[in-house]
Amino acid sequence: MCAERVGSWDYSKYPTYRPLQKADRRWPDAVLTAAPEWCSVDLRDGNQALIEPMTSAKKLRMWELLLDLGFKQIEVGFPSASVHDFDFLRKLIEEDRIPDDVTVQVLTQAREELISRTFEALKGCKRAVLHFYNSTSTVQRDFVFGLDRAGITDIAVKGAQLVKAAAAKNPETEWIFEYSPESFTGTEMDFAVDVCNAVIEVIKPTAINKMIINLPATVEVTTPNVYADQIEWFCDHVNHRESLLISLHTHNDRGGAVAASELGLLAGADRIEGTLLGNGERTGNMDIVTMAMNLYSQGIDPKLDFSKMDEMIAVCKECTQLPLHPRHPYAGELVFTAFSGSHQDAINKCLARRDEDSLWEVAYLPIDPSDIGRSYQEVIRINSQSGKGGVAYVLHRDFGLDLPRWLQVDFSASVQALAEQSEAEVQSDDIYHLFLQTYLPDEPPLAVGNYQLARDDSVDHLNVQIEGLSGSPTLSGRGAGVVGAFTDAISRHTGHNIIVVEYSEHTLGSDGDAEAICYVQLAIDGSRVCGVGRSTDIVHATMSAILSGLYRSAGASVRAA
Ligand code: KIV
Ligand code: ZN
Repeated sequence: MCAERVGSWDYSKYPTYRPLQKADRRWPDAVLTAAPEWCSVDLRDGNQALIEPMTSAKKLRMWELLLDLGFKQIEVGFPSASVHDFDFLRKLIEEDRIPDDVTVQVLTQAREELISRTFEALKGCKRAVLHFYNSTSTVQRDFVFGLDRAGITDIAVKGAQLVKAAAAKNPETEWIFEYSPESFTGTEMDFAVDVCNAVIEVIKPTAINKMIINLPATVEVTTPNVYADQIEWFCDHVNHRESLLISLHTHNDRGGAVAASELGLLAGADRIEGTLLGNGERTGNMDIVTMAMNLYSQGIDPKLDFSKMDEMIAVCKECTQLPLHPRHPYAGELVFTAFSGSHQDAINKCLARRDEDSLWEVAYLPIDPSDIGRSYQEVIRINSQSGKGGVAYVLHRDFGLDLPRWLQVDFSASVQALAEQSEAEVQSDDIYHLFLQTYLPDEPPLAVGNYQLARDDSVDHLNVQIEGLSGSPTLSGRGAGVVGAFTDAISRHTGHNIIVVEYSEHTLGSDGDAEAICYVQLAIDGSRVCGVGRSTDIVHATMSAILSGLYRSAGASVRAA
């Protein structure tokens, strides 16, 4: 570590956030049981944050995606600030692209000329959320606007009067008002309530015609529990709570936007604004995909459909030109993949025991990958961290091999060596070739030739030709079954003490002439070695497996015998 400091690294220059003192918090005991009202702000907050804002065609693509996913409230832009947003909104209205059960939302600052342009953009719209905002935090008051509390409240109240008056002049549209005290989390809570009460006083919402009060963590400055305290406190103190929809709009500066929205929901909020995959200013808006999937994975209908996750990701990438992190919750390409051996073992065991009708309980997999269109193929991938379970899973899945546990242990060392050598992920084909090379080489040093097997008085008599031994001799042996007779023949010829300790076989495929594969573990003069044989004839497969063990055994000098 360099002793001399470079740059301005100095934590002491940051003020410590002072949390609200709250002794009566109830939200920690609450449980989420239903989805909130969702509002996508992809086309506004998300779009404002792009290096290249969406073209009209991309906006339309995103709009259609949001409809397909099931969003019923969509903030489509800031039409008074952007001619592109204005034109896009006109397109949606004039081309009758807004379904009856979907409400568009537009953002405007609480200023006269901007509000009238916003109403112009909304002409002919059946229903709209008119979202107006002004900044209320101490920093914005003191350093940006140079206004005191009264001055800031005045902006909000004037804005409310203007939107209400303009709405009254456009009665063909059903209006829903939304007010955001922007930078709410940097605002003293009593002032946030005062400003909102002043706005509510103008709008006069009712329990039937509610207004939305949106409480943004414009910049995330503290832990999610503090945000939840603020939401609970706000809900307890704001006037006419029954006539309000409390909405949350969290940003992800500290990486806690989803948690903040979740805890805020526990604290009494009704509605959530966010974007797909968390696109948005700086570190992004709250990721609706993650939050919705968190509900889904707890058995709660999220009221949004992410079953075609990959198609959704493709559209998001195309529209935002942003990559997706491979470990992004639920959506990343690696999120269902286990490289670690112990994880693979546990996943295998859970999947093998799983009964389709039971609840999902699979170690390391919070949801069933197939629910979002992912396959199990990606669940287990092999690198140097992987163990026998993963290797066995891949060989079974892709090649129909059911390796017994003792063979898994034997083979995993070879795979590990390969993975370490390649310093990369090992593909399933590579594992299979390594398996063949290790136990079933193309040109084995020894092979079973012709044989005759006869039984008399429960003793099997075997004559078998062994190719690869000098002169390809025919060996003879006796025993109970082919295993006993063959090991007897080989033991007599080589002088080694050969015992079959483990044996397992299965067919490869289901038709009548499918090959059988046979796995053995031998003790040759006390040393363990595994072998594999394969043939359409099970007797041949068994003898080949024993021979494979024999020539693999370093201790058995069969060739010379
Ligand atoms: O982050 C924010 O505060 C906003 C407001 C305009 C709601 O986007
Ligand atoms: Zn925002």
